[in-house]
Amino acid sequence: MKDETRTELIKAALDARQNSYAPYSGYRVGAALLAQDGEIITGCNVENASYGASCCAERTALFKAVSQGKRRFLAIAVAGGRDGGSLSDYAYPCGICRQVLSEFAGKEEFQVIVARSVDDYREFTLEGLLPCGFGGDSIR
Ligand code: THU
Repeated sequence: MKDETRTELIKAALDARQNSYAPYSGYRVGAALLAQDGEIITGCNVENASYGASCCAERTALFKAVSQGKRRFLAIAVAGGRDGGSLSDYAYPCGICRQVLSEFAGKEEFQVIVARSVDDYREFTLEGLLPCGFGGDSIR
């Protein structure tokens, strides 16, 4: 991925984090998904008083994108941490989000970028974060 694309994606995730609704955990997450057509779709975590009804930032972004007709994605940037101050750690996608991303990641290498700032990030492939995953091919 080009440096400028990565920077744009991380900035979008940090911006999306501003909209996080996390009154229960105080852990605010933003995500930015890069679709194959070049469009960036963002999401944030949205919590609920019935905790299990909460949705992670990554799935918010993915479900928004799919509902807009997107089906293929190249990368996602994720930025998360507790309220206030700078991000003290990298926010890795949870297991459910890894699984949901894998549904639409395709065979090409899908990149997962976890960032604390535009110049402080780590990059993985989804295959690396979810090896031997369960997918549509497993049940056909
Ligand atoms: N969260 C995400 O948004 N993404 C993840 O991959 C892990 C967790 C959110 C869910 C909840 O609102 C808060 O972080 C604390 O778990």
